[in-house]
Amino acid sequence: MAGKKKPLVVITRKLPDPVETRMRELFDARLNVEDRPMTQPELVAAVREADVLVPTITDTIDAALIAQAGENLKLIASFSNGVDKIDVGAAAKKGITVTNTPNVLTEDTADMTMALILAVPRRLAEGANVLPGERKWAGWSPTWMLGRRIWGKRLGIVGMGRIGTAVARRAKAFGLSIHYHNRHRVLQSLEDELEATYWESLDQMLARMDIISVNCPSTPATFHLLSGRRLALLQPTAYIVNTARGDLIDEDALTKLIQEGKIAGAGLDVYENEPALNQRLLKLAAKGKMVLLPHMGSATLEGRIDMGEKVIINIRTFFDGHRPPDRVLP
Ligand code: DGY
Repeated sequence: MAGKKKPLVVITRKLPDPVETRMRELFDARLNVEDRPMTQPELVAAVREADVLVPTITDTIDAALIAQAGENLKLIASFSNGVDKIDVGAAAKKGITVTNTPNVLTEDTADMTMALILAVPRRLAEGANVLPGERKWAGWSPTWMLGRRIWGKRLGIVGMGRIGTAVARRAKAFGLSIHYHNRHRVLQSLEDELEATYWESLDQMLARMDIISVNCPSTPATFHLLSGRRLALLQPTAYIVNTARGDLIDEDALTKLIQEGKIAGAGLDVYENEPALNQRLLKLAAKGKMVLLPHMGSATLEGRIDMGEKVIINIRTFFDGHRPPDRVLP
């Protein structure tokens, strides 16, 4: 990019300061100074003017928006791993390249997934609320705050990609046995390392697990992968954890099954209609049946800086005339 006119890069959300500073140094960066998603008219203005759009997971970059893009827009360099809100096919038809930020979120998201796998059966959120506030504690009792043991249980991972694998490594160290369902079987060497069992049938795996962790991407094919019918296959003692995307699980069916005692509980970091929340989820959380987090699976300062670096590398590589490393194909 040296010596050339700097590309106009519109960034839709406030990013951590070090990332914004780098963006300003390298590009003609137009930053959203307020910490809120852009409005639709702002997004339309952005795609009309920009050479590069840097959206996040709170922006919907659909075909209708892409149709309004100006001639200059050549790259959508998403500040995200997931690209479920971007119509990559519509972008490709208009000659716009799409990139994302894979790998750098893997370990942080796996940490949070593991935290939920531990927190839900061991009633961590309920316990953490006892001492602050009302001080409902009368001291130790052999029958109080009993959760369920994690060690020795079966964990079923739905989606054995990078994050699923990183979750499996952690869970194995906590004494869980690893089971997984994936579109295709992973390498034998990885199965051996994790001592993992592959289930070709998701239904059969669901029926046999103690804990399910959902770690696959959201695509039209995985919408409500955990449908009401499939969730009903879980054992009444089973827990389910989702740090991937809300629409992978039929939330209404999940809440109903937990209310009816047909699933023991859930740990969720993602929701079907974020940031709106189904009120029944909140009631179940108040009863200790769910741990609800506000989509913070990958939220570490280091992770966000790494994501910013990836976005920058993708933009620079693209304007240097090369294929950006994290190009997403339609
Ligand atoms: C992503 O980038 O897809 C993550 O969900 C954001 O936390």
